[in-house]
Amino acid sequence: MEHTISVTSQAERKVTDTKSLPFGKIPTEHMFIAEYKNGEWQNAQVVPFHDLTLSPLALCLHYGQTVFEGMKAFVMEDGHINIFRADKHYDRFIKSLHRMCMPPVPQKLFIDAIRSLVQLDADWVPKEADGSLYIRPFMIATEDRIGVKISDEYLFMVVCSPAFQYYAKPLKVKVETNFVRAAEGGTGNAKCGGNYGGAFYPTQLAREAGYDQVLWTDAIHNEFIEESGTMNAMFFIDNVLVTPQLTGTILDGVTRDSLLSIAKAKGITIEERQISYAELITAFEDGKRVEAFGAGTAAVVAPIEIIAIGHKEYKCYIEPDAMMYQLQKELFNIRRGLTEDVNKWNYVI
Ligand code: COI
Repeated sequence: MEHTISVTSQAERKVTDTKSLPFGKIPTEHMFIAEYKNGEWQNAQVVPFHDLTLSPLALCLHYGQTVFEGMKAFVMEDGHINIFRADKHYDRFIKSLHRMCMPPVPQKLFIDAIRSLVQLDADWVPKEADGSLYIRPFMIATEDRIGVKISDEYLFMVVCSPAFQYYAKPLKVKVETNFVRAAEGGTGNAKCGGNYGGAFYPTQLAREAGYDQVLWTDAIHNEFIEESGTMNAMFFIDNVLVTPQLTGTILDGVTRDSLLSIAKAKGITIEERQISYAELITAFEDGKRVEAFGAGTAAVVAPIEIIAIGHKEYKCYIEPDAMMYQLQKELFNIRRGLTEDVNKWNYVI
């Protein structure tokens, strides 16, 4: 079924200095919203950004039926706007929705919604080289019922916010061996709200101990690295790029996937496999150069400076010639149209 998106625009709000604000603090002028009722999507609209009215009984408020995506748009060298890897984000959104028993959004509606919104708020896409427009498509269960059930009604929305560096400096992370983020069969590879809420407490404890984030380990052995806070975890050791394989407990990160492709094209050996913290300790104790970094849409490439394992802290390599910065630069060049987009990742509007 074709969905027509109506657009109601408002007089332009001046784009203020967004660079000095914390990530995600200021929305752009408009948002997209569509309703799911009686088994179909309806009332698809781009409208001025506004607060929602929800029944206190809305199911999302009680049982966590919420799913989101995180995407980015960039101003390219030639002035066009590029929405990066929209199709891969769509695929992941659909998988997350399926896992949370939520109705799929048709691909055309998803893409048209984002394109219309970004086009309308194009002035909000930062032109600075370190800036981007963060795009947050999300869906919530809105049926008003306290009884535990799969909702029959939903809102699919998209909001945007100008974004700059997510982490201001290299990270100190702590390998987490008491709490777990996800177990096999759980929702670890779904981008659902509960995964983030459940991570707050262990992350808060890590912060109190002087660390920025945790490096999660697997739920069975508490031994194998999973992912870090808001990002996938990657290591460059002995000229090999190693990252945990997608077992179902970690997110299929779009930045992770992009960096792996870029590294492969550069001839770098890639290993998607289990990596234990014991393997990291051995590498550090053997005096190897260990690069560790987070990869995520918001964080892009976030260098890790310190990894705490038990009571010991290990120092990673973060000097300017580190491989992670080369991969980051190549990703940047593709998104800005400075390098040929051989993988057809750029959705240019
Ligand atoms: C992203 O990188 O897009 C995320 O969703 C992480 C965080 C901002 C929640």
